[in-house]
Amino acid sequence: MSHLIAPSILSGDFANLIKDIEMLNNSDADWFHIDVMDGVFVPNISFGFPVLEAINRHTLKPLDVHLMIVEPDKYIKQFKKAGANILTVHAEACTHLHRTIQAIKQEDMSAGVSLNPHTAVNDLEDIIQDIDLVLIMSVNPGYGGQKFIENTYRKIERTRNLIEKNGSKAKIEVDGGVNLTNAPKLIEAGADVLVAGSFVFGSDDPEATIRALKNV
Ligand code: DX5
Ligand code: ZN
Repeated sequence: MSHLIAPSILSGDFANLIKDIEMLNNSDADWFHIDVMDGVFVPNISFGFPVLEAINRHTLKPLDVHLMIVEPDKYIKQFKKAGANILTVHAEACTHLHRTIQAIKQEDMSAGVSLNPHTAVNDLEDIIQDIDLVLIMSVNPGYGGQKFIENTYRKIERTRNLIEKNGSKAKIEVDGGVNLTNAPKLIEAGADVLVAGSFVFGSDDPEATIRALKNV
């Protein structure tokens, strides 16, 4: 299977979201990556349900929702209702991660777990068979446009090993500072899904940039 591209709408134009949504609908993007930040888990606030619902009314592709919030359990049903297809929580934000994963799956969404740059892949050992996605942060979450952390390649390789050792079907997604320079190495290391925000929306031709990332 070829890798998937999930452009992050965080770097889009919030005063003209419909333009970006239509561009993504027409592009080679596989998923819409939606970053929800609460100002507590991360030092930034992005947007919540009304924006997600509005995006959902116009998108033709799966919504890949990345929750950078504390206590995600409180909102799982509401994210389903707002249109999330894949719901990813941070391991660092969940005291009872197994319970949270089961609750996401009960709502018929794919369940993802994200790891901050400092969190060891081994933390996933006892949950890897239950999840559909591992989201490896290649920057500290909170902002678009940050510098890619080089240790990510090794982390992807370790995740790939863990997945294979346990016969898990989880996909590996990488998020933060992804561009055309590091994309080939990320795929070679074992990434299945590449998130890209500023690299796509900051380029002269976002649709062509998505195509280039897809053709890596
Ligand atoms: C960061 C977010 C990312 C962000 C990526 O906290 O999770 O999805 O939008 O943006 P870039 O690609 O610009 O690093
Ligand atoms: Zn993200």
